[in-house]
Amino acid sequence: MIIKPPRIAIFASGSGSNAESLIINSKKNKIYQVVCLICDQPEAKVIQRAENLKIPVEVIIQSENENKTEYEDRLLKSMAKYGVEWVVLAGFMKILSQHFLGYFYDKILGQNRVINIHPSLLPLHRGLRGYEKSYTDKSDFAGCTIHFVDSGIDTGQIIDQKVFAKIKNEDFKSFKERGLKIENEFFPEVLEKLIAHKIKLGNFHDNK
Ligand code: GRF
Repeated sequence: MIIKPPRIAIFASGSGSNAESLIINSKKNKIYQVVCLICDQPEAKVIQRAENLKIPVEVIIQSENENKTEYEDRLLKSMAKYGVEWVVLAGFMKILSQHFLGYFYDKILGQNRVINIHPSLLPLHRGLRGYEKSYTDKSDFAGCTIHFVDSGIDTGQIIDQKVFAKIKNEDFKSFKERGLKIENEFFPEVLEKLIAHKIKLGNFHDNK
């Protein structure tokens, strides 16, 4: 039986190293198909990266007189247009509400098919500046987390984590570069496994 690769939208707001890695992987392995990139920042570097890889880009900016639901309705319209089945957040700087997330509810999974990558070992260091907080904490380890998205800030169920050791006297720039490189490899790997049902959920502590 041939199973069609699920149709994925990537949402991003910034540089887009993860988006690029996810797209390259999709073209190589064909386990999932990236059908569009959604960006809420007109100047973001990720736009060029996606265009270079021939992925349709939609820049969808929340206008001043538009509330969250109205904005999310526009996002949902794009999702319908591209027949999106999974949403992958890769540095997307907006919090999505249940109005948007509920559209992707998967009864079998018991989750919304919306996932995110966060640059810390959740539940540590939620929210902004994950690398800064991990760099300065007292632990010998840092890492990244891939999790389902709920309407909180980095509170959804953890899917998988990658730990890396801190190096004595390493400066912040090198620490972050190392972390990001790990993210770029880990994210497509986990997404592929998730789609192929090769990940046992529930291995991690509660993320609430
Ligand atoms: C990554 O560190 C990711 O974990 C966080 O935002 C950053 C995005 O980086 N959510 P990039 O735009 O993919 O390079």
